[in-house]
Amino acid sequence: MAAKVLNTGRTEEEKVFEQSLRPRFLDEYIGQEKAKNTLKIYIEAARQRKDTLDHVLFYGPPGLGKTTLAGIIANELGVKMKVTSGPAIERPIDLVKVLINLGPGDVLFIDEVHRLNRQVEEVLYPAMEDFCVDVVQHEGSSGASRRIPLAPFTLVGATTRAGLLTAPLRDRFGVISHLELYSVEELKTIILRSAGVLKVAIDDEGALELARRSRGTPRLANRFLKRVRDYAQVRCDGVITGKTAAEALDFLDVDSLGLDNVDREILTVMIERFGGGPVGLDTLSASIGEDAGTVEDVYEPYLIKNGFIMRTPRGRVVLEKTYHHFGLEYVKED
Ligand code: ADE
Repeated sequence: MAAKVLNTGRTEEEKVFEQSLRPRFLDEYIGQEKAKNTLKIYIEAARQRKDTLDHVLFYGPPGLGKTTLAGIIANELGVKMKVTSGPAIERPIDLVKVLINLGPGDVLFIDEVHRLNRQVEEVLYPAMEDFCVDVVQHEGSSGASRRIPLAPFTLVGATTRAGLLTAPLRDRFGVISHLELYSVEELKTIILRSAGVLKVAIDDEGALELARRSRGTPRLANRFLKRVRDYAQVRCDGVITGKTAAEALDFLDVDSLGLDNVDREILTVMIERFGGGPVGLDTLSASIGEDAGTVEDVYEPYLIKNGFIMRTPRGRVVLEKTYHHFGLEYVKED
């Protein structure tokens, strides 16, 4: 199996690092124009009415800024944010404890919200809809439940795939926002902003090269900025130029179009073992020893958006660009 040097999950060190680079208000946030513009209106409307913002669901590939946007919503509304995740809330009582501690208007951010278990999800329904929780009383034999009112709050849920959410949960979000992969220009602006925050010397070409290879994902762009800074410091004069960035990223096995080891393995297996496809997701994932969900959520969006592969009803197919990228001859089938 290929080494997963460039997966998009977060290390603890990166969480701290990302925190320092995170924009705090909508005006500082680069990209996601559609999500930003709709949020601006809903936040402003809630503020004017002195009302609680409706529950918001962000979905899209990892590393695009779902947590950042949740933090921005809280900052813009001037409220506190409590952060948790689907797998972290194991028992209904764990969620009840979180809910009863929220202040009026606070934001509760639940990452990987599709991974809440069913019992916990059942607690969330009345909490989202009526701002109350039903707690079963153990004393006595009646099993009667007591209704506890909550302060009105905004749930911000994040998921890599909205399709994995149960319908009752999805239906309780008033705002559903799809986050898209970023353009190279947007990533370049983010990299220059981050370099300013971190006081890293970088020129325009350096930022562009990093942006081109960051597969549409700010988390990767910021991760690369840090690694390339180390490389520039040790091997060159500390300034990230286009040449330094290209050298450093080659060194990290990220190629000129941002493909990492796993991307390349997906594509070469599709060509060499499956004649370019069509091949089903499960077969493909098993062939490279990856989880199908990871292939679908993490790797495919970039490969599809950039024309390396295409989804068809019969499976995934490799496109002409991939053959050219690998220096292979493309033979069109009739
Ligand atoms: N850092 C990470 N993502 C960002 C974004 N979208 N805008 C500004 N800075 C960022």
